[in-house]
Amino acid sequence: MTVSKNPEDIKKMFNKIASKYDFNNNIISLGLHKLIKRLAVSNLTLKNNMRILDECSGTGDIAYYLKKRNANTDIIGVDFSEKMVEIARKKHPKITFLQEDCTKLPFTSNSFDIITMSFGLRNISDHKQAIKESFRVLEDGGQLMHLDFGKKKFISQIFDFIVKKTIHLFYGNKLPYDYLVKSKNEFFTPENLIREFESEGFILKKRKDYLFGIISMQIFEKSQTAYC
Ligand SMILES: C[S@@+](CC[C@H](N)C(=O)[O-])C[C@H]1O[C@@H](n2cnc3c(N)ncnc32)[C@H](O)[C@@H]1O
Repeated sequence: MTVSKNPEDIKKMFNKIASKYDFNNNIISLGLHKLIKRLAVSNLTLKNNMRILDECSGTGDIAYYLKKRNANTDIIGVDFSEKMVEIARKKHPKITFLQEDCTKLPFTSNSFDIITMSFGLRNISDHKQAIKESFRVLEDGGQLMHLDFGKKKFISQIFDFIVKKTIHLFYGNKLPYDYLVKSKNEFFTPENLIREFESEGFILKKRKDYLFGIISMQIFEKSQTAYC
């Protein structure tokens, strides 16, 4: 059965798991998610005074790694889960986090030099609208870094197994993490995802796989001629 991505249900789910989100991520990835996020961010060139938007910012990991790479950047994290935003604000008081929906961003066009989105798009039912909104608010020639699970191959199935068993061991109630495995398996392959971004005017600049392809990162540029 296809996993439901009703925005209200998704928001409720993330509100429910927000307080345990970091702890759970550390367990199911053996702490590796932090390393991967840091490596992914290191692919971006961050210049002073750049305006950066981290979409689906969760508890603020990516925004934090961006700020760590260049403190003289202006970073805004947006997430529609109030609990996630609450935690991100507590963890990173020097970064701005707003409770906003990535399919209806409250920013004028061409507002950001860089956009990042990590493990977010997979949870958005109207992913096309989220990509269109990213394109709109990104400056001409600006870059978008996308990070999420990658290939659906054997190694990925081992990951699914570990996630299910570990969460069950710790919590018994493994429902939200059943969602994680299902949504991951129903999400685009990196190749199809690249096509989705390209169909909205983005140009692929770089692709990098981590952990034998379990995680995939792409950097796109906003084509300056796409809407001429
Ligand atoms: C799996 S978490 C990823 C959090 C963080 N980026 C990370 O890498 O750890 C997905 C986040 O996307 C948020 N989200 C899902 N749909 C959204 C939407 N339409 N607008 C804003 N945030 C959304 C959820 O609330 C959740 O915090």
